[in-house]
Amino acid sequence: MVGEDVVHRPVLREAVNALAAARPGERWVDCTLGFGGHTADLLRAGASVTGLDQDPEALARATASLAFAGDRFRALRANFRHVASLVDGPIDGILADIGVSSWQLDRPERGFSFSARGPVDMRMDPEAGETALELVRRLSETELAGVLATFGEEPFARRIAPALKAFAAGDGPHDTSTMAAVVAACLPRKVAATMHHHPATRTFQALRIAVNDELGALDALLEGAPALLAPGGRCLIISFHSLEDRRVKQRFAALSGRVRPQAPRRGLPPPVSDADPPAFTLLTPHAVVADDAEVERNPRARSARLRALKRRPAPSESDA
Ligand SMILES: C[S@@+](CC[C@H](N)C(=O)[O-])C[C@H]1O[C@@H](n2cnc3c(N)ncnc32)[C@H](O)[C@@H]1O
Repeated sequence: MVGEDVVHRPVLREAVNALAAARPGERWVDCTLGFGGHTADLLRAGASVTGLDQDPEALARATASLAFAGDRFRALRANFRHVASLVDGPIDGILADIGVSSWQLDRPERGFSFSARGPVDMRMDPEAGETALELVRRLSETELAGVLATFGEEPFARRIAPALKAFAAGDGPHDTSTMAAVVAACLPRKVAATMHHHPATRTFQALRIAVNDELGALDALLEGAPALLAPGGRCLIISFHSLEDRRVKQRFAALSGRVRPQAPRRGLPPPVSDADPPAFTLLTPHAVVADDAEVERNPRARSARLRALKRRPAPSESDA
């Protein structure tokens, strides 16, 4: 059960606030408003924030709790994959704390949870796209096994995929508890007995990532967001999955010129670079992770990885 503190206290709060270093009058975009925890801190620092979320319930709750900021806060129901066309740049900061919120995970009717009975849905935007059950029905067995292996790193993907296809095609009941039991039954008993998490955890994670095209949305964000930043502007991204963190790490490395230079060919001098210095600086040489106290308070923070990038200040500012 997730406690109140977990719901309202945003992940990696201190590190986010230190790297964001928001100042009065700055314009920020929070791409994943959620409950508005991070946004509340940006607003308290005096910034104006546009908060995006694709979940109307999250928007409504955050909007109510952020009323203290008056017209410095604006909520927008949107997928952050479209941020470049939704927001007028230049802006001073962009924040994304991607994935689902603890609150979404804990609502049985949203279908994210294997521990409570609900519809096999898993859409963050409950009015758009196909549900997890529809996805399982549409994909071939091989495609489904690929989704489980790639997005869930599930070693038993090829056993689970046919069982899920049979579950989705059968008479039901088609709910999350039944689906979790179907998945659990696919694992060798000895393996299931020694697991530290529910045997269906990886499968649920994989289906959720596929249903919401989470990697596609992140790729679009990484493509479009940096160009929105004003000189000195910061971009902070928190991810919870190694596939996501790798994308953030590589994009930030490329933007800040940290990509390893090409090795010189044998007998030739090293290539001479006449490129301009990179427009961005990496603020986090290594991903920032939660400390033990935060993980104890909020176990979900264990897999959080925060990376940040800054557009180089204009020459007059950097000389100052
Ligand atoms: C981890 S929560 C964010 C929590 C927030 N930082 C806070 O302090 O309360 C992630 C939120 O992002 C939203 N979200 C995830 N992917 C999204 C996307 N592609 N576009 C818009 N919102 C998204 C989810 O609906 C969820 O409300």
